[in-house]
Amino acid sequence: LQYFSAFIVVTVLGGCNLDTRMSTFVTKGPIAEEQLNLFMLTVWVTFAIFIIVGGVFVYAVIKFRERPNDDRPMPSQGHGNPLVEIGLIGASILLLAVIAVPTLQAIWFTQETPDDVESRMGAWYSGEELAEEEAENPLIIKVIGYQWWWAFEYPQLGITTANEMVIPAGKVVHLELRSVDVIHSFWLPRIAGKVDLIPGRTNAMWIQAGDNFAKWKEKQGIVGPDQDSPELREGYASYLQEEIHNYYYGQCAEFCGDSHARMLFRATVVGDREFEAWVADEKIGHGTPDGRSWDEWYTAYEENPEQLTGDLNEGLKLFMGRAKCATCHTVKGNPRAVGVAGPNLTNVGARLSIAAGWLNHRAEDGGIDTEQQYENFFNWLKETDVIKPGNLMWEANGGGIGELIDEHGEPALLTDEEINKLSLYLQSLK
Ligand code: CUA
Repeated sequence: LQYFSAFIVVTVLGGCNLDTRMSTFVTKGPIAEEQLNLFMLTVWVTFAIFIIVGGVFVYAVIKFRERPNDDRPMPSQGHGNPLVEIGLIGASILLLAVIAVPTLQAIWFTQETPDDVESRMGAWYSGEELAEEEAENPLIIKVIGYQWWWAFEYPQLGITTANEMVIPAGKVVHLELRSVDVIHSFWLPRIAGKVDLIPGRTNAMWIQAGDNFAKWKEKQGIVGPDQDSPELREGYASYLQEEIHNYYYGQCAEFCGDSHARMLFRATVVGDREFEAWVADEKIGHGTPDGRSWDEWYTAYEENPEQLTGDLNEGLKLFMGRAKCATCHTVKGNPRAVGVAGPNLTNVGARLSIAAGWLNHRAEDGGIDTEQQYENFFNWLKETDVIKPGNLMWEANGGGIGELIDEHGEPALLTDEEINKLSLYLQSLK
């Protein structure tokens, strides 16, 4: 009965809109598809059991109910019926096997990262800096859980981002999952889920957004390994572009403290060339706001900071100085912003969301809504503790961004004007 209720709840209530960015019912990758098939199989098997058992029960209640002036004799009172008992045990074993065999198959399927030739980096990534053995491997992403945000490291490519993973469509990606504090769980419902991130241990899983070429052909009814042509490749490319190329919501799926519910992430699925462009951007990072070299900028910063004018320079001065951002955050390019305790902020201004997926940064359709973007960023810096209770950025700053010590040894909050400049500087990182 509990399965049946679950079925009713998910199909009737959840049926309002299954095509959301977190739906497990409209899958966008082989693992989620495998898991959905297994789920539906279990639902139908248990539904069939419910109908049979319920049917027999209802039949017996109606057929053998007491009637007025019932003078039928009492049925014979027996104990045990070997045939029925063996039959029930046999049926249970059979039903369990029907569920267990596909379950084990699904476990094996999701456990082992497949060696898909087209997913090897060398086969599609035209970047010149790939080492030979890396070219032979799929893309690896190290997923590291923190209270309450995510780091995504791409060790083969030498880049790190936070709360937004970017992956190439149709390619197998191998994930290594670790945690620095408590147990978290990686869940990207439309593509794959869930695997825990456990302190002191490295778990692994693989994900793939969209099918590979072979699987896509199979679903199209095009069989045979020789089937390949520019037209088919084009058809496959437009499938990836139209059905897979998108961004999806991920969520921590293991209770991990105050702001567990606010530990989200985005996965952006892009085409090969777009992925390479993104990697190149992340590698370069950022220069100074006014185009000086970093050496010149720091010389000016130390000797005569007043000559560094304009909102962005003011914001960067706060970032390096009073607000202490660089102690915990890295901004690629800036030689002195190399902190690793907090999220990497390289290209933070280009991200879809801030505060680990909790606040939209770009508009829902992926476009830019400058006003909303600015407002969310400003509020995040001003009210970090309200937006994400218990978070370390608040605590590390003594209970407030910029509740820092001024030159007279007094605590001094950043003014709204300063937060504004900091916010403008951070948003310029794109
Ligand atoms: Cu991390 Cu819940």
